[in-house]
Amino acid sequence: MRMFDVIAKKRDGETLSKEELQFVIDGYVSGQIPDYQMSALLMAIYLRGMTDQETAQLTDIMAHSGDMVDLSAIHGIKVDKHSTGGVGDKTTLVITPIVAACGVKIAKMSGRGLGHTGGTVDKMESVPGTRTSLDRQEFFDQVNRIGISVIGQSGNLAPADKKIYALRDVTATIGCVPLIASSIMSKKLAAGSDCILLDVKTGNGAFMKTLDGSIQLAQAMVAIGAHNGRKVAALITDMDTPLGYNIGNSLEVIESVEVLKGRGPADLTEVCYQLAANMLLLAGKGTLAECRKMVEEAVASGAAYEKLKQMFAAQGGDVSVLDDPDKFAKAKYSREIRADQSGWLYATNTEMIGNASVLLGAGRIKKEDTIDFAAGIVLHKKAGDRVEKGDLLATFYAEDEGKFASAEEMYRGALTFRDEKPVLPELVMARVTEEGVERF
Ligand code: URA
Repeated sequence: MRMFDVIAKKRDGETLSKEELQFVIDGYVSGQIPDYQMSALLMAIYLRGMTDQETAQLTDIMAHSGDMVDLSAIHGIKVDKHSTGGVGDKTTLVITPIVAACGVKIAKMSGRGLGHTGGTVDKMESVPGTRTSLDRQEFFDQVNRIGISVIGQSGNLAPADKKIYALRDVTATIGCVPLIASSIMSKKLAAGSDCILLDVKTGNGAFMKTLDGSIQLAQAMVAIGAHNGRKVAALITDMDTPLGYNIGNSLEVIESVEVLKGRGPADLTEVCYQLAANMLLLAGKGTLAECRKMVEEAVASGAAYEKLKQMFAAQGGDVSVLDDPDKFAKAKYSREIRADQSGWLYATNTEMIGNASVLLGAGRIKKEDTIDFAAGIVLHKKAGDRVEKGDLLATFYAEDEGKFASAEEMYRGALTFRDEKPVLPELVMARVTEEGVERF
């Protein structure tokens, strides 16, 4: 087999066979296929697409390019979730303890921040002492003992995706449904859970900017799951505006705790409740209405918050900061950002707000940058709010005062004021399962 012929076949819009896909992935991971040929194939896929069968086979081969985690040592059904990434998206920290408190096991590997979006592992590490790297046995034992562990991606999980993703990043081939779907799902299949709930973000702060594009991506991922014997469903949720009010690592932990104590912001609470209920549904805990009730009870009884504390304590975290957020390390400087005009805050460019928080130190500009856990933004106004000149729009936190000017410029550039009140999108816009698409 020759890579030249595989590229030509896809360039001409044909379907690649399983053997050809295996040849490509083996050859690229081993270094026999050079970047320039792989780039040409990726662009051909970008332009010509892939069938569902091709995408599922590619995903399976990528998943098997490294370790396939065997979670059978953990008793019961294991449910995973994945968010395609957003700003202020702290849902994992809320949902996983809720689901575990309802008796479904969570053995989850999460990621770090990427670009303008944050990552669960960075947020967890803002709680002093927390270990996000456990060896396999400790991970399994913890899940068997308390029902939950969330750690960083360990071992050699889907190395083919790691190499291909880096190439896609520099060859303008990221925004392609079969490539995104196979990238995400190869890691999820390798991570070993029985059921996977996908939170596909849509809007100006998400990878997929339109509802139709997000539904298409969700359908591709659900089909991959079905093809590989996993139960997968997806919710399409809004990312036209940051989720909740806090952006930045310890700030997001504090807001997650507020939701678990039953006093979090309405948007974050509702999205988390719907995601958690759908995870319980996938795990077979009852009808959607019954699962929703279980979620509400787990929060109202305090069981979900207790579960979060148990997880942090088991992983070495100082849980006293969860009970008393004043104990979190504080940013040295803060700056109030006030409105210089009156009007309705009509829309916000969510990606730019995420980037403003990265400029304050909450994320990485380069891979090797260290994170400032206390840095970030607390929003006081969001899209849909009425604002009068001089009102407090946001408070910035940083370790270095010099960071405020560029972050403020970025943040102010993200705001659109108008005289009329905007109509905001639904928080949860659709649900995608093997049975089809339900739009809300
Ligand atoms: N996240 C991934 O893991 N892969 C993609 O291709 C896009 C988002």
